[in-house]
Amino acid sequence: MRDLCVAYGRRGGGVWRALSGVSLGVDAGEILAVLGESGSGKSTLAAALLRLLPANGRITGGEILLEGADVVRMDAVGLRRVRGSGVSIVFQEPSLALHPTIRVGEQIGEVLRAHGMRSKRERGERVREILAKVFTGDVERIFSSYPHELSGGQQQRVLIAQAIACEPALVVADEPTASLDSTTQREILALFRSLRDALGIAFIFITHNPALLAGFADRVLVLYAGKVAEVGPTREVLFSPRHPYTQALLKCVPQVEYASAGRRKLPLPVVAGAPPSLAVLSQGCVFEPRCEERMEMCPAREPAAAMVGADHEVSCLKFSA
Ligand SMILES: Nc1ncnc2c1ncn2[C@@H]1O[C@H](COP(=O)(O)OP(=O)(O)OP(=O)(O)O)[C@@H](O)[C@H]1O
Ligand code: SF4
Ligand SMILES: [Mg+2]
Repeated sequence: MRDLCVAYGRRGGGVWRALSGVSLGVDAGEILAVLGESGSGKSTLAAALLRLLPANGRITGGEILLEGADVVRMDAVGLRRVRGSGVSIVFQEPSLALHPTIRVGEQIGEVLRAHGMRSKRERGERVREILAKVFTGDVERIFSSYPHELSGGQQQRVLIAQAIACEPALVVADEPTASLDSTTQREILALFRSLRDALGIAFIFITHNPALLAGFADRVLVLYAGKVAEVGPTREVLFSPRHPYTQALLKCVPQVEYASAGRRKLPLPVVAGAPPSLAVLSQGCVFEPRCEERMEMCPAREPAAAMVGADHEVSCLKFSA
């Protein structure tokens, strides 16, 4: 993705700039986490990747290169080919993404049919093979279940099966574990890693929860108000963050602490202030109103990305001025 800009038309005129010049790269078989608070543009990024933006959303600049082909300029035939077999998406809420009255085996088979597999028998065999990759046992029961007969974690596995059915190069997962308990979350993350190792699929894993990422993602990209604040190897971004926003965000991860004289509740730190309006074009650094390290030039100059380590970039004037 190079310099991608996405805007939503507003009722009554004007636009929200949901993404402003976002660049990112994902290698084959890599797990890239996109971390950001609500409204930072994470779902917009996922939808834009496959040109699935709603009617009032528009890509206003930049390019999305998938193995050399630009998705932004692709015609309908090219898009249909890419969706599912080049890139696929796992949505946040599995119970909304699955059809309630079609058995899950058939729903996964629909992806294969859309990509040209005509024989029902062949589709059935292939769906069972795919289910065996994402479930340990019970394949026949899952195949013939309706979504409401499965748990949230099982439903999410069905969506993952659907996403990998045509062996895409890249799967984008938009907060895929947000509605699951922490044990099931860990199981789903382990499944992503095993699929990456076995099939070489790359993942863009979207989340607002940094606690999920250590030991899971290869790299982390921090998004703030539609711009990349920081991107780098997971260990560096999580344990030596350089951007003032990443530092503030990571301080907000809840910690359970015990004082010697019994349990004492500590206040949860927050990033003071609120994200900027996406309707106003900012002249300088978008984080400036909330930044505790702001400098005189910050409201007037937009920071460019600066290298602070091997493969570690930060968009802050402390590093690029
Ligand atoms: N259909 C839409 N019309 C207008 N504005 C939209 C639309 N969808 C999203 N936006 C705006 O674009 C910005 C980015 O939204 P997006 O859904 O990408 O955020 P997000 O990071 O996925 O948030 P969350 O963590 O809450 O899912 C927000 O300010 C949002 O209000
Ligand atoms: S550019 Fe300035 S305001 Fe923005 S994050 Fe860096 S120090 Fe803070
Ligand atoms: Mg979202």
